[in-house]
Amino acid sequence: MQKQSSSPRSRRRFSYLQGPHQGIARISQSFAEVSRRALEAGFDLVEIHGAHGYLIHQFLSPLVNTRTDQYGGSFENRTRILREVIEAVRKVWPERLPLWLRISASDWTEGGWTIEDSIALARQVKPLGVDLIDSSSGGIVPKATIPLGPGYQTPFAERIRRETGMLTGAVGMITAPEQAQHIIATGQADIVLLTRELLRDPYWPLRAAHVLKQQIAWPKQYERARF
Ligand SMILES: Cc1cc2nc3c(=O)[nH]c(=O)nc-3n(C[C@H](O)[C@H](O)[C@H](O)COP(=O)(O)O)c2cc1C
Repeated sequence: MQKQSSSPRSRRRFSYLQGPHQGIARISQSFAEVSRRALEAGFDLVEIHGAHGYLIHQFLSPLVNTRTDQYGGSFENRTRILREVIEAVRKVWPERLPLWLRISASDWTEGGWTIEDSIALARQVKPLGVDLIDSSSGGIVPKATIPLGPGYQTPFAERIRRETGMLTGAVGMITAPEQAQHIIATGQADIVLLTRELLRDPYWPLRAAHVLKQQIAWPKQYERARF
């Protein structure tokens, strides 16, 4: 049986990961094109995904990027594709609308991408028009040792915010309204992002507002169920 990675289709699909750079320009063009479509479709926020082992992260992380051209090797080279993507996206995504960047702030692995790299990256991308760093982590190698626990990635958001002045988002095992409130009130992040807790309880924002004694608008149809 032919291995999937050597099929003509995969070879075509992953050709940008081999040298030289025929496919590289296509990457930033594609990000720009999808942003243009998002604008046309009426979205008002774009987030570039530079985390979790996806394409951009594969360029950023020294654990994976083995290129020897100007897109591999030094920090400057490994981050080049991301700068090009941001510049291409900002050409079509209007200044008045927010552009976020999700990164894996640490690879949690010796020799991998670090929080110091993330801080340096945040300084690079701020002047290019990134408004907020969504600070996730991991995903590039299967064997990383990740200290999972409540708010375990929040210190990344906090350091990037403190050391660069950039807006940050905290994500990862944020589940309680008071925990979310504490993160914002103590200046660790500018926004909290929840996933699994919102799957468990889609009405979490309504519940959190109630717990924190905040007034928020309820959907008209739910008014009779107000806490
Ligand atoms: C069902 C599911 C789908 C997800 N899909 C994505 C995704 O497409 N892109 C992404 O960056 N993260 C994705 N994530 C990760 C979440 O965005 C989030 O970073 C992670 O679940 C940690 O936050 P939590 O503890 O609040 O769930 C997904 C998580 C879940 C549970």
